[in-house]
Amino acid sequence: MKIEKVCNKVFYALFFIAITTFVSCSSDDNTTSFSAVPPVAQDASEIDFTSFRASWSNVFLASGYELDVSTDPNFGSFLQGYESLAVNQLFQSVTGLSLNTEYYYRVRAIVNGVTSENSNTISVETNEEFPDDITLKSATEGNFFVGVAVSEARTNIAAYDEVYTREFSSITAENDMKMESIFTGIDGSGNIIFDWSRIDGLIDYAEANNLNVHGHTLIWHRSIPQALEDFTGTDQEFEDLIQQYINAVFTRYQGKINSWDVVNEAIDDDAGTQWRNTLFLQRMGDNYVEKCFAFARAADPNVKLFYNDYNMTFDGIKRGKVLDMVDDLLASDLIDGVGYQMHIDYNFPSREQIQEATDELVAKDVIVHFAELDVKLNAANDLTDLTDERAEAQRQKVREVVEIFNAIPQNKKYAITVWGLKDDDTWLIPENNGRPEWPLLFDESFEKKPAYLGFLEGL
Ligand code: G3I
Repeated sequence: MKIEKVCNKVFYALFFIAITTFVSCSSDDNTTSFSAVPPVAQDASEIDFTSFRASWSNVFLASGYELDVSTDPNFGSFLQGYESLAVNQLFQSVTGLSLNTEYYYRVRAIVNGVTSENSNTISVETNEEFPDDITLKSATEGNFFVGVAVSEARTNIAAYDEVYTREFSSITAENDMKMESIFTGIDGSGNIIFDWSRIDGLIDYAEANNLNVHGHTLIWHRSIPQALEDFTGTDQEFEDLIQQYINAVFTRYQGKINSWDVVNEAIDDDAGTQWRNTLFLQRMGDNYVEKCFAFARAADPNVKLFYNDYNMTFDGIKRGKVLDMVDDLLASDLIDGVGYQMHIDYNFPSREQIQEATDELVAKDVIVHFAELDVKLNAANDLTDLTDERAEAQRQKVREVVEIFNAIPQNKKYAITVWGLKDDDTWLIPENNGRPEWPLLFDESFEKKPAYLGFLEGL
């Protein structure tokens, strides 16, 4: 009994000492408050290119901890998701970081509902460079396709071939699979004359290099063969030609082209109207989009059918019209996916706009393609040379786009496709009468730009 009493006394003495080491009391104005002793933050471990592991010491009786991470040693701002992050263990992986960047973290303990002061601050620098064996393709494998717009001619140039096959898992023809490239005339019996040479070349290239092919695009008002413009037959004969065209393409490439943009940019930019006024609309009627999707579905039910359009991330009215059309097509099981063309600027649209537009699409029963990604740096024509600052801003925008895409539920992610390989090949330079522009992931020497790193950082 005596021994038991002594033990109890010793226990209570130890308990008292312990309590006083993690709580201090103050009793001004007759109230008693406790403040928990902060944990000791420990050096970061498992430091990588875009992540590290923060850890800290145990605080007796703590029910949890709060972690802050910042690029500012004074914590004037916080990394998104890491302001007072609640953690129930003594470590936390901090992810989604930039490489070669200094971060700071500190932690607080919560004891009996009371939050301690901040711990000491630990600084940690992420690794400087991605290792050479990480590529866009390897970093996205099993997650989604990373595609590039190519031309058949460039697949025969060694420097392009090297980067196409090293970095990408999917290709889209920038121009070679458009109607104007394939449908070269109509013969005396009313049959289409086809030129399969470039599309065949691309399919052979894809097969040889194990690349997915996303077809672009069957029906587009900016790629109408002269023979169709000049066609003097009836509307029904015009429609039959369109069906013949879709059938021929799908039959020839059965099992080789997994997905197609069936109709491109059919919705009008004018808020007042639904359909863009095109030759297809005039010849086939208001339901021509549905007809084209039905022709495609009937030609090969295994091909994934996409609708593709621009300004989707910031023009809510146009997006609403597109999504209504998608609902109609879904009701007849005629569509599988939607491409948001990502022709954007380094400072527009905002992350929030892109997120909102993506959320609205993800709510539909379709798979998502961030198509035609390029990020303009010089829309205001205020640069004659690319600056480091603008290149870094582009890196952040690319990273945002990839982060938003990567967060889409796995079964809805199809691909992100970059609209061209290197800066001096971009369509934007001729489109804007030679205005300097650097919208892509590789520079004119095929070297990776900061935007390339932004892509990897977004994963
Ligand atoms: O092939 C001829 C060449 O022989 C000739 O010397 C040269 C002279 O200008 O023109 C060449 O053709 C050009 C072709 O690009 C290849 O460079 C066409 O004139 C030109 O109109 C064509 O532009 C393409 C444009 O679509 C129109 O088809 C761009 O490369 C291509 O990037 C662009 O892509 C579109 C998407 O398909 C749909 N979304 C918008 C996007 C940008 O406009």
